[in-house]
Amino acid sequence: MIKRFFVWAISPMGRIAVVIAGMFVFSLAAFGIYQTQQNPNPQPIQFPHNLHVGLGIQCLYCHPGASKGPSAGLPTISKCWGCHQQIAKTQTSPKLKPMLDAMNNGTNFVWAPVAKVPEFVHFNHRPHIAAGLNCENCHGDMTKVTIAENPQVMNMGWCLNCHRERAGDDEAKLIKLTDCGTCHY
Ligand code: HEC
Ligand code: HEC
Ligand code: HEC
Ligand code: HEC
Ligand code: HEC
Repeated sequence: MIKRFFVWAISPMGRIAVVIAGMFVFSLAAFGIYQTQQNPNPQPIQFPHNLHVGLGIQCLYCHPGASKGPSAGLPTISKCWGCHQQIAKTQTSPKLKPMLDAMNNGTNFVWAPVAKVPEFVHFNHRPHIAAGLNCENCHGDMTKVTIAENPQVMNMGWCLNCHRERAGDDEAKLIKLTDCGTCHY
C-alpha cells in the first residue's frame, strides 16, 4: 500500500497532487498559527484594563480575593452591569454588545484564564499582599494593558528569585521560602 503510494507519488499527476496536498496542509498549519497569534485567549468581551484603571477603579473592586485568599477572582457580569446600565454607550457600542447580549440571555462571562501557574504549584495571593507587595510587582503596569495577555514569566525561577531577595539575611525565612514543600505539596 505504502509502496504503491510512492510509485504513484513520483508520477507526474501524483507529484502535482502531492504538492497541492502539501500546500493545503501548510496553509492549515499557517492559519492555525495565525489564529493563535491573533487571538491567544478568546475572551467573552474585550475588556480594556487601561480605560477602567484610568477611571480610578481599584484593582480590589474587581479582584477582591487577592487580599483574602489564594485566588484574586474575576468579576461577574453583575459587577460590570452596576456601572454599565447607567452608561449610554452600553446601548450603542459594538464593543459592549457581548455584555448586552449576555444580560438579555441571563448568562455570565466565562473568562479565559491568562495569568496562571500549573496545577501542581500552590500559589496564594494573601501572604504576598500581607507582606506589602503591590499587584504591580507581579503583574506589571495594568494601567497600560488594553487586552490582558499572558506575561509568560511566572516560572519557578521568578518565584525563587524574589523569595531569595525578600528573605535577605533571615535564614529561617530563606529556608521556608525556598523549601520545595512551600510551593509543591
Ligand atoms: C472593572 C473591573 C476591573 C478592574 C478595576 C481591574 N480588573 Fe483586572 N481583570 C478584569 C477582568 C474582567 C479580567 C478578565 C479578562 C482579562 O483577562 O482580560 C481581569 C483580569 C486580570 C488579570 C489576569 C490577566 C493577566 O494579565 O494576567 C490580572 C493580573 C488583573 N486583572 C490585574 C488587575 C490589576 C493589577 C488591577 C488594578 C491595577 C485590575 N486588574 C483592575 C477586571 C478588572
Ligand atoms: C465603575 C464603573 C465601571 C465598571 C465596574 C465597569 N465599567 Fe466598563 N466602562 C466604564 C466607563 C465609564 C466606560 C467609558 C464609557 C465611555 O467611553 O463613554 C467603560 C467602557 C468600557 C468598554 C469600552 C466601550 C467602548 O465602546 O469603547 C468596555 C468593553 C467595558 N467598559 C467593559 C466592561 C466590563 C466587561 C466590565 C466588568 C468586568 C466593566 N466594563 C466594568 C465604567 C465601568
Ligand atoms: C507575588 C506575586 C503576585 C502579586 C503581588 C499579585 N499577584 Fe495576582 N497572580 C500571581 C500569580 C502567580 C497568579 C497565577 C495564580 C494561579 O494560577 O493560581 C496570579 C493570578 C491573578 C489573577 C488571575 C485570576 C485569579 O483569580 O487568580 C488576577 C485577577 C490577579 N492575579 C490579580 C491580582 C491583583 C488585583 C493583585 C493586587 C491586589 C495581585 N494579583 C497581586 C501573582 C501575584
Ligand atoms: C515579587 C516577589 C515575590 C514573587 C514574584 C513571589 N513571591 Fe511568594 N512570597 C513573597 C513574600 C515577600 C512572601 C512573604 C514572606 C513572609 O512571610 O514575610 C511570600 C510568601 C509566599 C508563600 C507563603 C510562605 C509561607 O509563609 O507559608 C508562598 C506559598 C509563596 N510565596 C509562593 C509563591 C509562588 C508559587 C510564586 C511564583 C508563582 C511566588 N510566591 C512569587 C514574595 C514573592
Ligand atoms: C517559590 C515557589 C517554588 C518553590 C520553593 C519550588 N518551586 Fe518548583 N515550581 C514552581 C513553579 C511556579 C513551577 C511551574 C513553572 C515552571 O515550570 O517553572 C515549578 C515547577 C517545578 C517542576 C516542574 C518543572 C517543569 O519544567 O515543568 C519541578 C520538577 C519542580 N518545580 C521541583 C521543585 C523542587 C525539587 C523544589 C525544591 C528544591 C521546588 N520545585 C521549589 C515554584 C516553586
